Amino acid sequence: MTTASDLQQQRKQRVAMAAIAELSEGMVLGVGTGSTVNAFIDALGPWAQRLAGAVSSSEVSTRKLQALGIAILDLNDIDGLSLYIDGADESNRHLQLIKGGGAALTREKIIAAAAERFVCIVDESKLVDTLGAFPLPVEVIPMARRQVARALATLGCEARYRQGCVTDNGNHILDLHGLHITDAVALETHINQITGVVTVGLFATRPADLLLVGSDSGVQRLTAAR
Ligand code: A5P
Repeated sequence: MTTASDLQQQRKQRVAMAAIAELSEGMVLGVGTGSTVNAFIDALGPWAQRLAGAVSSSEVSTRKLQALGIAILDLNDIDGLSLYIDGADESNRHLQLIKGGGAALTREKIIAAAAERFVCIVDESKLVDTLGAFPLPVEVIPMARRQVARALATLGCEARYRQGCVTDNGNHILDLHGLHITDAVALETHINQITGVVTVGLFATRPADLLLVGSDSGVQRLTAAR
């Protein structure tokens, strides 16, 4: 019997295969984090010797890429990268994203900023009219956690400490519940300016360039309505 979770996994595999079609010979590839990206990495085997290497956004993705024999490159040793593939927790039709459900948001944002092209891969459940139903992750310096939470409460949301979560950078995560994000660029800019914030998981000033959306009927390609 095919379960709902089997179907969701099939959508992720479908969109992961569509992302493979975006690769080109000899490129340096940025690789994100999460279950959709895991499906993408699982499909990367035939490309292992055809890439110049990968810049990885998390220790988990690094281990999976290394298991395929793909060289992991330090961003400081290269001049940039041509393509970044990553998932998202939510996307609107401007391809503005909420990311960080897997706590890798800071490295993800750095790689997205370095990449010439950002292709985001999601299943159709992630496409929304208005961002914010998924709690917005904010990575904070541990000593500033409560201070930042108080500052964020003035936005009318509830900032919940993600208990037991320490990021790859040694920091903590606050998840913002109850937001209805109508101006994602303004909110990203505002939260980034709060002292103690490392990164907010809103990708609006640097949205995706292409969104691949996996559904039961195939993969839809969306470019930003800017
Ligand atoms: C990781 O920190 C996130 O930004 C992921 O990209 C996001 O959570 C999507 O993960 P899934 O593909 O597992 O839904």
